[in-house]
Amino acid sequence: MRAVMCRELVDPEELRVEELDNVPCGPDRVRVRIWASGVNYVDALFVQGQYQIKPPLPFIPGSEIAGELTEVGPEVERWEVGDRVMASVGLGGFADEIVLRADQLTRIPDRLSFGQAATMGQSYCTAWFTLTRRTVLRPEDWVVIFGAAGGVGLAMLDVARSFGAHTVAVASSPEKLQLAIERNANAVIDSSDAGSDGATMRARIREVTDGGADIVIDPVGGTLTEEGLRGLREGGRLMVIGFASGSIPTLPANQVLLRNRSVLGVDWGAWALGHPAENAALLGEVLAQVDAGALEPVEPTMVPLEDAGTALRDLIERRVVGKVALESRAR
Ligand SMILES: NC(=O)c1ccc[n+]([C@@H]2O[C@H](COP(=O)([O-])OP(=O)(O)OC[C@H]3O[C@@H](n4cnc5c(N)ncnc54)[C@H](OP(=O)(O)O)[C@@H]3O)[C@@H](O)[C@H]2O)c1
Repeated sequence: MRAVMCRELVDPEELRVEELDNVPCGPDRVRVRIWASGVNYVDALFVQGQYQIKPPLPFIPGSEIAGELTEVGPEVERWEVGDRVMASVGLGGFADEIVLRADQLTRIPDRLSFGQAATMGQSYCTAWFTLTRRTVLRPEDWVVIFGAAGGVGLAMLDVARSFGAHTVAVASSPEKLQLAIERNANAVIDSSDAGSDGATMRARIREVTDGGADIVIDPVGGTLTEEGLRGLREGGRLMVIGFASGSIPTLPANQVLLRNRSVLGVDWGAWALGHPAENAALLGEVLAQVDAGALEPVEPTMVPLEDAGTALRDLIERRVVGKVALESRAR
């Protein structure tokens, strides 16, 4: 098998593809020929040793995959060679094959390509968890989404739109804003521009939402977070998702008190690990919406497995518009 191997904690561009011995399948396991591996922010954190979980070295990064079963252990029921599957694997995804337990597999809906299936699990589960479990989204709500052309942001945009809410996409370049418009954002705010004419992000938010947002989705952090809090209307909710900017903000408590606002944390990853049955049900809800055509994940840009390091660097440097997946072609 071929895999991207992380032998020491490194800058992503130092990662190399290596030829490795095949892992035996085992009677209760399946072998997946990986056709697409989603590239996520968390993978970049893993290889640099910046994630809260630090796996023993060496390891193969890559946390979500999609592919086809090529071998099914004799004790495995319900699955057959040739089945199209997706899985959230934590590690081991940047490879051309992986051996998994059957309970890690989810059947790919016919509507989804391998690329879509490999890049939607984490982001859509986070979005669905945020908007159905951590808060209640009403069709009349104004939802402002920071980092809207990133993985989490695009999924939030799609889920909020599917509930009929009004969406405002915040992103830092014309290409990212254009993608948000193509993905049916009702309004956009250029975060690189806010402030240049004296108007702050909070003023822009109040302007486009007719007085203030009901929900602000924040996977970015830094100075944007307080602007989002101040841009909330009466009863508004700030959803703290992540800190892609690398900066964890502190917030003035009086701004939470004023207008009866709430600040809510979202930790889908830890919840999913602690509640596997509930998380399987959550993914089932998401895929039922995909089956019904109510949700439509973006088609990712596919790049060769050898370009894993460049893909991770592009993500870190904010150059990625939409999603990226790695592919290892048959040789
Ligand atoms: N809480 C949870 O359960 C959960 C689940 C999944 C992910 N997350 C976290 O959510 C965050 C976003 O994940 P993602 O998959 O959406 O990542 P992504 O695809 O890389 O998107 C992140 C966005 O953040 C913005 N950004 C601003 N400053 C940045 C910087 N210095 N470096 C990189 N991006 C920057 C970029 O948008 P602009 O250029 O438009 O500003 C970028 O599109 C990550 O921190 C991730 O760990 C949390």
